Amino acid sequence: MISLNAVRADITTLGVDAIVNAANSSLLGGGGVDGAIHRAAGPDLLAACRRLNGCPTGQAKITPGFRLPARHVIHTVGPVWHGGMRGEAALLASCYRESLVLATAHGLRTLAFPSISTGVYGYPIELAAEVAVSTVRGFSPDAGDVLDVTFCCFSETDLGVYTALL
Ligand code: APR
Repeated sequence: MISLNAVRADITTLGVDAIVNAANSSLLGGGGVDGAIHRAAGPDLLAACRRLNGCPTGQAKITPGFRLPARHVIHTVGPVWHGGMRGEAALLASCYRESLVLATAHGLRTLAFPSISTGVYGYPIELAAEVAVSTVRGFSPDAGDVLDVTFCCFSETDLGVYTALL
């Protein structure tokens, strides 16, 4: 069973089992939500990420949350938007799916996603939110797994886009 909701918040403040980081393939930090998560988690997060040897676009890897209220961080790498003709939607869907697979494999129950790829990577929020909601909705956890998924929006505009889809 999977439940979906959307909130406007700073994802680093959410006390969930895991927050998802919109990282880059080096996993060595950056700006945007990646920068905010590393700042809030502290230097141990970067040390843990160094041991992961990067992450391909569309894949996901997990670390502890360290100083974050969230117990874990699931790092995923979204596609850069190039107009939609280079498989961006499939790669973005894979980010959400692989994060959910990792969360259920670790027995996590509450999970929060930022709007992956919709900042620096330029993916239009309306198109990205459709991919996000349909991919999460279409995920069927193993029998008995319960997943509460929160789409954590950083702006009222983004919250409105997700709310209209939920
Ligand atoms: N909490 C929740 N959402 C946030 C936060 C935050 N503290 N900070 C930013 N966001 C939102 C942005 O407003 C945007 O909607 O996260 C979404 C994703 O934007 P980016 O962080 O720019 O991520 P992305 O577009 O996937 O680009 C990834 O940016 O920071 C670098 O290292 C990162 O190279 C990678 C690239």
